[in-house]
Amino acid sequence: MTGGAGFIGSNFVHYLVDNTDDVVTVLDKFTYAGNEASLAGLPEDRVTVVRGDICDAEVVDRLIADTDVVVHYAAESHNDNSLHDPRPFLDTNIVGTYTLLEAVRRHGKRYHHISTDEVYGDLELDDPERFTERTPYNPSSPYSSTKAGSDLLVRAWVRSFGVQATISNCSNNYGPRQHVEKFIPRQITNILVGDRPKLYGEGLNVRDWIHADDHSSAVLRIVEAGRIGETYLIGADGEKNNKEVLELILTTMGQPADAYDHVVDRPGHDLRYAIDSAKLRDELGWLPAFQDFERGLAATVDWYRENEAWWQPQKAATEAKYREQGQ
Ligand code: NAD
Ligand code: DAU
Repeated sequence: MTGGAGFIGSNFVHYLVDNTDDVVTVLDKFTYAGNEASLAGLPEDRVTVVRGDICDAEVVDRLIADTDVVVHYAAESHNDNSLHDPRPFLDTNIVGTYTLLEAVRRHGKRYHHISTDEVYGDLELDDPERFTERTPYNPSSPYSSTKAGSDLLVRAWVRSFGVQATISNCSNNYGPRQHVEKFIPRQITNILVGDRPKLYGEGLNVRDWIHADDHSSAVLRIVEAGRIGETYLIGADGEKNNKEVLELILTTMGQPADAYDHVVDRPGHDLRYAIDSAKLRDELGWLPAFQDFERGLAATVDWYRENEAWWQPQKAATEAKYREQGQ
């Protein structure tokens, strides 16, 4: 698999070690978002970590020759970064995916592509519709457009070359080991270091939250039983606006619910994401285990409280970058 030292990828590795007998090789470049500590302590006979770039065709070819199934998580993943420096998003998300597809094509290997609900653009707050597998692509940011491009490459490689691939598009994940640049960890760690949380604009934007472990169980199910060439949307009916989530973080951490700052909004900020995961549930019998967001969030807060050594080295530089952007 790729990107196993990042947030969702590392949760997937832990999930596989805990719930299967699979042996995993992680290919990760260890960008600013990759963290060795996220894979520390895992059994050496089950998990091998290779430091390398998914754009490096030689490394990719060598590893894929020895692999049964490739699950591709690696990406440049943060919208705000893509607005300031899009180039790495094109390299990793587009050229990286192309490099992997060519290798799985050469070696005839099964491939699963991890993608995002952001490829569908955004919805109005009062729209009764949610995203489905039939929603037209309409990405807004450099990040989401490169993810959309990578999905389309996968579809083309399936149709043109018969690559044995599936795609999943998931909503916003939360849980342990998420980089402090992202919304929920940024606010939790701001409170832990004595800074005020930062809300973009009025905070009415809606995200559809799912626990990272539920994302992992869905991906495993698709790898085991998904139909080749198909796309599956992954979501857990977790729609909440940012203000609600922030107030919940504050009260969970014993702070007044209004102890935060409004900061400049993200340019082109998508208003609402919402996933209809009926296909995954009906066809593959998948169900999320984390039904209670408040409990999942409280456990996430506890994780950041107990793992300061994991996030503290990234915190100052991340906040310095946000300060430059007025955020
Ligand atoms: P992340 O930024 O936390 O981790 C990305 C990982 O990829 C890091 O370990 C990084 O070192 C690695 N990486 C980056 N460029 C690389 C390259 N060129 N070669 C090898 N490794 C490289 O990202 P995340 O939030 O865990 O997201 C993982 C995947 O899930 C991405 O494909 C993302 O688009 C998708 N996704 C994320 C969410 C979310 O809520 N975070 C939701 C849906 C889908
Ligand atoms: O929907 C799936 C996507 O979710 C993934 O594809 C992306 O990789 C992942 O980063 C995430 O994208 P978002 O842009 O939704 O996540 P982020 O954590 O950056 O922001 C969540 C919301 O919170 C968004 O509306 C912006 C807002 N926000 C973010 C930060 C960092 C704030 O209000 N304040 C902040 O400080």
